[in-house]
Amino acid sequence: MEKDVLDVIRKRRTIRRFTDEEVTDEQVETILEMGMYAPTYMNRKPWHFVVIRDKELQERLGETLSVRPYVQEASVVIAVYGAPDISSTWDLDGAAAIENMLIAATALGLGTAWAGSRGNLAWKEAEELMQAALKVPSGFRALSLVCLGHEAKTVPPHTKDERYDKTRVHYGDWSTLNL
Ligand SMILES: Cc1cc2nc3c(=O)[nH]c(=O)nc-3n(C[C@H](O)[C@H](O)[C@H](O)COP(=O)(O)O)c2cc1C
Repeated sequence: MEKDVLDVIRKRRTIRRFTDEEVTDEQVETILEMGMYAPTYMNRKPWHFVVIRDKELQERLGETLSVRPYVQEASVVIAVYGAPDISSTWDLDGAAAIENMLIAATALGLGTAWAGSRGNLAWKEAEELMQAALKVPSGFRALSLVCLGHEAKTVPPHTKDERYDKTRVHYGDWSTLNL
């Protein structure tokens, strides 16, 4: 068994403070590559990724989404887009890619934060802001942001006691619990 992957998954935390150290273009490409290894419904790959290194836009996004200062501090912010016309599961497919990217970045020693989610007013505003700033063609919807940077403050991994909740697991049918 390749235990390293399990350890990286355990290590991933949301990092909300970053140093000034840059994430390299090579690291970004590796992270995007790993994102695109994710499964998609009927292998449709309905995603696009916009790599943002623009502090002014990051500041505005952070303010709009009330996630200051880490969106602004992040060396790179990747805006994840999907095309509903290409796949009705564009959001699920995009989320699978995002999780892959978070795990890959953690494996590279970087800090990550998933920010913004569809369905609230702040995200609608952020989507409109990005639509113009990033010259997004019509037909694409913004899913979330992935913030990448070097951690300014280490956040310890969760423990199994904290995370693994037996009451959420049902073997065979809902009435059975493995307690
Ligand atoms: C869809 C989604 C949207 C999120 N949006 C935000 C956000 O806007 N701001 C934030 O601080 N964290 C955001 N998070 C991160 C969660 O708050 C975080 O994953 C959760 O608190 C658990 O902490 P951990 O990631 O360190 O395990 C988001 C996570 C997901 C999956």
